[in-house]
Amino acid sequence: AVVLSLLAAGCMGGETPAPADRPQYIVGIDGDYKPFSYIESDGSAAGFDVESIQWIGEEMGFDVKIQPMAWDGIITSLVTKKIDMVYSGMTITPERQERVSFSNPYWIVNQAVAARADSSMTIEDVLAGKVIMGAQRGSTAADYIQTNLVDKGLLSENDFKLYTGFSLAVADLENERVDAVMFDVPVVNEFIQEKGLRKVGLVETDEEYGVAIRKEDTELLATINEGIDRLQASPKWDELKQKYGLE
Ligand code: ARG
Repeated sequence: AVVLSLLAAGCMGGETPAPADRPQYIVGIDGDYKPFSYIESDGSAAGFDVESIQWIGEEMGFDVKIQPMAWDGIITSLVTKKIDMVYSGMTITPERQERVSFSNPYWIVNQAVAARADSSMTIEDVLAGKVIMGAQRGSTAADYIQTNLVDKGLLSENDFKLYTGFSLAVADLENERVDAVMFDVPVVNEFIQEKGLRKVGLVETDEEYGVAIRKEDTELLATINEGIDRLQASPKWDELKQKYGLE
């Protein structure tokens, strides 16, 4: 059995054996969600959440494989084991908690509305359903608009457009196919600078981000909670907040 495990570890030729007890977890992200998770032009993954899980992996002794994927359906990918967790600006909601577990909250956000720089709309116009809205499919922003505007008959279904990702929504804002978009505040702050857009206002939703994990993976959940605790107690936490403009 000793020989076999040596063979399996690939160290018969004198190579260093891969530590057999070091698991690898596949971390699902939306690769278009600056500053939390995104793909750089050279193809590497970056962001506050990406660097957080990479640090936690080092600290807690597991390898991390970052897997960019469609946001809408990312929970299904987790439940069907294509990935092992979602660490990508995901809000803890009761609906999601029916399907998966969440780590302890690690960040708090509200929603923000952005428009073109030349627009004069107010947040009251937005909340009265007076402007054509865009949001990401499967996001809490989309839920908010659906529940508070469309379902209440303030905004017509046709004036509400859903996008697979943030860049497509912002492109349609620039092309005047929508008048305003709603995203998590840090994401809006990031792109209004980059794109020269205007922040119309905030909607206080008091959302908590957590890491989503399959319900049966209770050990992994404990590991991630411990990892988040250690990260938040380490100087790395402030370093990451600064690097990604979060406070
Ligand atoms: N926090 C919001 C939610 O959980 C928006 C997330 C949108 N996309 C993302 N890649 N994190 O629905």
